[in-house]
Amino acid sequence: MTDQHRPAQDPPQDAEGFFPISPLMIRNWSKGRFALYLRQGPSFVLYTSKGDAFTDVHRRKLDDMGVLQVYVDGAERGAYASYLLENLPDLLLDENIPMEQRSEAWYQGSLMALRRVFEERLPKGLAKRRFGELSDMLRTGMAFFNQNGALKQVARLVARGYKSYNHSLGCAVLTYFVCAGSPKVHPDRLHAVCLGALLHDLGKTQVAQDLLDRDPDTLSLGERDKVRAHAAAGVALCANLGLEHETVNCILFHHERVDGSGYPSGISGEALPFYVKALAVCDVYDNLTRPAPWRPARTPYEALRYMKMHRDGFDVDAMRRLINVLSGAEVPTQ
Ligand SMILES: [Fe+2]
Ligand SMILES: [Fe+2]
Repeated sequence: MTDQHRPAQDPPQDAEGFFPISPLMIRNWSKGRFALYLRQGPSFVLYTSKGDAFTDVHRRKLDDMGVLQVYVDGAERGAYASYLLENLPDLLLDENIPMEQRSEAWYQGSLMALRRVFEERLPKGLAKRRFGELSDMLRTGMAFFNQNGALKQVARLVARGYKSYNHSLGCAVLTYFVCAGSPKVHPDRLHAVCLGALLHDLGKTQVAQDLLDRDPDTLSLGERDKVRAHAAAGVALCANLGLEHETVNCILFHHERVDGSGYPSGISGEALPFYVKALAVCDVYDNLTRPAPWRPARTPYEALRYMKMHRDGFDVDAMRRLINVLSGAEVPTQ
């Protein structure tokens, strides 16, 4: 045991205790934002303190000891979540990390972001009941991300930044709630729909950021078309991934409106499946309630009022269900 392996006399414990991570998830750092522990029998032994460096020397020592998992104190879960999300694009693309561990990193990072969506954006009662269902769904989603190409696409999305990935997750959560229990969406299809909601703006990774950062009302027609191309571009990026048709429909049609005023096709109401109309509503609501470079975030009340003023574009049932979800009410199944 080196001097850095001093026993944690009284290891910090909280309700969640310590949780394991692969040493491969740890990038070299000069100042760690959380401590790392080793497990020795029933106790946890400090390996590097918060604020300490983690270098190749530390990594080699772990290799020499045959350590496959290091541990983080549950009390530092938030710091680990931020670290993971910031480094996720790199981790997902790191060919040295086995595919299962990369998709596990995606799962862990997304789970933590999901927890924030629940804590900050949804009624409290709803959070407890449904968090488990959605985390199960993320776990199932890992099978999809075990494909190399799929992981690359998600890395692109995460690389666009925390904010856009949170928007993707926020849309997936809201769309799940709006669709779950609706007779118009078979429960077996919810997974494909949520994946579509998660990937819906993937094509924005092909659009210049300065266009996305501008008020849409100030764009020229040519610039507007470049932004609008993100719907089809997202489908093209996923062309080889064997996505289910609900997932593809979500990516391609999430900007369509029931009055035919949307894009890329301008198709209207009856031609659009309910889950696409649900995603369209959730996408607009989630965007309005997040700050944009050209305007502050609207409150949930302001966002819903704005959407009611533009109600011709939105499906009435999807709107009603979203309002029920946001008010914490049980969503009726009929
Ligand atoms: Fe979009
Ligand atoms: Fe979006």
